Amino acid sequence: MSQVPTSQAPTSPAPTSNVPVTKIPSANCASNTLDNNTLDTTSIEPTTLAARLARPELLELTPYQSARRLGGRGDIWINANESPFNNVAVAELDLSKLNRYPECQPPALINAYSQYSGVAESKIVASRGADEAIELLIRAFCISGIDAIATFGPTYGMYAISAQTFNVGVKALSLTAEYGLPSDFATAARGAKLVFICNPNNPTGTVIDKARIEQAIQALPDAIVVVDEAYIEFCPEYSVADLLESYPNLVVLRTLSKAFALAGARCGFLLANEGIIEIIMRVIAPYPVPLPVSEVAVQALSPAGIARMKTQVKELNAQGERLAAALNLYCEQWGGAVLTPNGNYVLAEFDDVAKVAQLLIDNGIVARAYKDPRLAKAIRFSFSSQADTDRLVSLFESQKL
Ligand SMILES: Cc1ncc(COP(=O)(O)O)c(C=O)c1O
Repeated sequence: MSQVPTSQAPTSPAPTSNVPVTKIPSANCASNTLDNNTLDTTSIEPTTLAARLARPELLELTPYQSARRLGGRGDIWINANESPFNNVAVAELDLSKLNRYPECQPPALINAYSQYSGVAESKIVASRGADEAIELLIRAFCISGIDAIATFGPTYGMYAISAQTFNVGVKALSLTAEYGLPSDFATAARGAKLVFICNPNNPTGTVIDKARIEQAIQALPDAIVVVDEAYIEFCPEYSVADLLESYPNLVVLRTLSKAFALAGARCGFLLANEGIIEIIMRVIAPYPVPLPVSEVAVQALSPAGIARMKTQVKELNAQGERLAAALNLYCEQWGGAVLTPNGNYVLAEFDDVAKVAQLLIDNGIVARAYKDPRLAKAIRFSFSSQADTDRLVSLFESQKL
């Protein structure tokens, strides 16, 4: 099994759909290992009852190749942009009401996120990670077989995959060579109901400045512009959350999975004006936030939790700088380029990516490679602890001639 996995590209568009668009973004997905995932990535023949009854487009769909699904072997796990810290004080959680259903939107959680983000409580929905928020938006606003979303790739794969699972089209548009929004973005995205902009972008780590995002929001008044700020704590000056007051067509996605070190808790937030929130609340599950999750999340969002998060972000950014410097030195010698990181990860392109992949495998390092043709030579490394970074830096330094 390969730790820097490569194999199946996502498959072609849904076969039976009337969906108007769709160049499916093979681009957006991470590559995967063959040996533990063959079933996931092969189209299913309609021979079983389940396959005959299933929505036909699902038979062709390649599900998201999450880091956990891909697996890998090693002792340095830097393939999912997780935090190396574990902050939860389990003894302090109040689980005494686990016999009761939780509130749909736990008031203490919404209040804590409002205090943290500066966004009014009426503009916040808590979800099962930002991933569920993406799905809620698609289910709430896109008509299956008719509507489309737009994405700017290479970017996070779940926008396209969520759309495909509901037979919603995908206008898979490209970022520019410098990973900015293309000059014709408004024309290109026209007709899409939801336009996703990932900022900082995963996996490139690049950012689009606020004025440019505001232009996009203004240029697409009949669409909802969804700005995914999963990594915004690593560059908070780029947030557009304050623009929510001015634009009814803006949605901001957030998560506690990254800087707040709670990927295992599954807690995200959709921030938007009340009109959008009202529609989202019609499709959300009755109890999307399990009680232990809101307990853990409220703890993370306490003043002490926020202070700790900020300290850990600084520490991770410092480790990330060391890693990026080591990668830059390696690339100067062996060919390649390193993108300036703005999230908790760095993307590097290597002239001989196979050699680097093998080096990582041989040293028990699980990083992430891509099938996207634009990222064929790229590997993404999540920032990690000092000890992990020491090992990575000395590994790349050991390659000096
Ligand atoms: C850009 C982006 N958005 C959303 C998510 C999903 O976040 P969550 O863990 O809150 O579902 C990720 C996870 O890696 C991500 O990279």
